[in-house]
Amino acid sequence: MSASIEELRRQFEEDLSQAVSLDGVKSVRDKWLSRESGVITGEMKRLRDLSREERPAFGQAMNQLREFVETKLEEVRADVHKAEILKSRKRIDVTRPGFPYAKGAQHPIRRLQEEIEQIFLCLGFTVLDLPEVETDYYNFEALNMPRNHPARDAQDTFYFDENLLLRTHCSPVQVHAMESMKPPIRAVSTGKVYRRDPFDATHSPMFNQVDVLAVDEGITMGDLKGTLEVFLKCVFRPDIRMRLRPGFFPFVEPGAEVDISCIFCLGAGCRICKQSGWIEILGAGMVHPKVLRMSGVDDSRYSGFAWGMGIDRVAILKYGVDDIRLFFENDLRFLNQF
Ligand code: DAH
Repeated sequence: MSASIEELRRQFEEDLSQAVSLDGVKSVRDKWLSRESGVITGEMKRLRDLSREERPAFGQAMNQLREFVETKLEEVRADVHKAEILKSRKRIDVTRPGFPYAKGAQHPIRRLQEEIEQIFLCLGFTVLDLPEVETDYYNFEALNMPRNHPARDAQDTFYFDENLLLRTHCSPVQVHAMESMKPPIRAVSTGKVYRRDPFDATHSPMFNQVDVLAVDEGITMGDLKGTLEVFLKCVFRPDIRMRLRPGFFPFVEPGAEVDISCIFCLGAGCRICKQSGWIEILGAGMVHPKVLRMSGVDDSRYSGFAWGMGIDRVAILKYGVDDIRLFFENDLRFLNQF
């Protein structure tokens, strides 16, 4: 009897030594331990044929064999599992180049916006971060555009209600700055503005502006011109020229439209400047005394200058883009050129 159990154990060990994969281990387990057809179950059935005296020893020996089989199977399963993991690791070639992935970059408008802010920081201005949702007061009223003022029509506005709106320009920075700072004030703000404009090659209902304010004793139109010229030379190129024409904006007096010499033909006349040699680029002026007063600045002592400019328009000119919509479509073939 014990000889045949020894034989079973030997057979089992033989089977197990052949098992080199997890599947192999599983079939050895099935062969030996399956409840219905396993070798151990089969052997146990022989218990019936044995005499009463022989049964306990046989039963005990078979139980020991089962335990042995179970322990060995588990040991080998764990080893094979470990070996398979190691083998699969070896297949990873760490010297292979990685998959290429598309890298993002700053949007050209955003980059220009930061460049502009940087110029003002160098000039000693403070950059204010202001809300795109404004009140009627900051967007219009305090800038000398009371209700029913005709100048409001020029900036067709998105209203939330009577009082709240999407700012139509960055000029509210003038009011915020005068309310929160004491002269001398040098403040600037950039960001998105909204108007009920069509979306076509030259218009967009959302675009970007920069607006600038300086208030101090004795600020003159000369300060405006000098600062503006430095700024425009930094934004465009050092050899551009600038000219001021009279212009009307309710919040400045006098007001000016500012042109730069055409950056494409350098003033000789071309399609872009409509043969004039000049390109209109921004609005500027001396802060209206009423605007100073409304924001609590003593207009008998202080004066100031302001200007406002469209950033998208600068981008169009600087990068020679002929359709503003390209900046909004996020087509990588376009954006990758910057
Ligand atoms: N806010 C004006 C606009 O969006 C531009 C402007 C003109 C701003 C004159 C100014 C200024 O600060 O002085 O059309």
